[in-house]
Amino acid sequence: RVRCRAWRAAPSGLPREGLTVLYSRIAGTGSYLPDRVLSNADLERIVDTTDAWIQERTGIRQRHVAADGQTTADLAEMAALRAMEAAGVTAADIDMLVVGTTTPDLIFPSTACLVQARLGANGCAAFDVNAACSGFIYALSMADKFVRSGQSKCALVIGAETLTRMIDWTDRGTCVLFGDGAGAVVLKPSEETGILSTHLHADGGYKELLFNPVGVSAGFIDEPGHGVKVKMIGNELFKVAVRALARTAEEALAANELPQEALDWLVPHQANLRIITATARHLGLPMERVIVTVDRHGNTSSGSVPLALDEAVRDGRIQRGQLLLMEAFGGGITWGSALLRY
Ligand code: ACO
Repeated sequence: RVRCRAWRAAPSGLPREGLTVLYSRIAGTGSYLPDRVLSNADLERIVDTTDAWIQERTGIRQRHVAADGQTTADLAEMAALRAMEAAGVTAADIDMLVVGTTTPDLIFPSTACLVQARLGANGCAAFDVNAACSGFIYALSMADKFVRSGQSKCALVIGAETLTRMIDWTDRGTCVLFGDGAGAVVLKPSEETGILSTHLHADGGYKELLFNPVGVSAGFIDEPGHGVKVKMIGNELFKVAVRALARTAEEALAANELPQEALDWLVPHQANLRIITATARHLGLPMERVIVTVDRHGNTSSGSVPLALDEAVRDGRIQRGQLLLMEAFGGGITWGSALLRY
């Protein structure tokens, strides 16, 4: 039997005859949301908005907000511990730790290094990936390559954010959208089908649609309109997101020669219920087969896909062997997908 390192799945994701394919497979999931809940009614008291507008335009009813002093690494650590417990692994097993985040605790060390030290997984590779809301899909794709090539036997992949820390709470166009949270998965090598493909994309030409104008090199200008605050042209971004997500879903299915009907679940980035609905409609998937958390979590950026995954795994909707399409879209702009058998 030949162990194939660079490989391509046969239709339905089964190994081609005569080959033992090494996949990376999700061994366990975990997630964490901070205790504090901010409802739309709470926001009505802060900016000129209404619960009805927010629900109608975004599908969001509430979001979780990190407590004062609670950081991205705090949320990431909790999600990681839950994923490790579900996977039945200890810190000593982890040989790679990747965190998708755009809200790191510090400029450096990376949030991955901070989490590594807390878990006691010292010594393994640890780094952050900044791809805005696509951070988890990018991080998963990195780890998948290492596991499939045999370089990692147990990778911890986290998406964690405290995006509310860089929100302009006087801007009703953005402050109603975001929340804090983290999700994690443990990836292990397996001869059973796991991650079939990941596809990553970016188009820096769309920078102006969603960005944060400050940074180490550009400078932290402390003037009105120049703080550490998200800037967004929401309605333009909406159209670009819907197009990109439809394309990336088609791309993932075509690369694996799988029809849309083969999908059991869509686990989408949770930015806006209307974007999720448009993607599901494009795939011909009824909403009963789409994992939706945006109503309760808001947009947790890199945290959103692994949070949604963990919720549906733990409540029993997602079962072993089912085909999942995860996809995300974020500032950059970045977008991408992961198609996998859970
Ligand atoms: N409450 C009440 N009215 C509002 C609010 C609010 N919170 N926000 C905007 N409005 C008003 C606007 O001022 C505008 O008023 P006007 O017509 O008098 O000028 C009107 O509502 C319509 O504004 P639009 O921006 O055109 O509204 P739209 O239907 O596009 O919804 C939204 C806005 C929800 C932001 C939507 O465009 C969207 O979800 N876009 C995608 C955003 C996204 O996904 N961002 C995250 C990407 S992931 C990442 O990397 C972080």
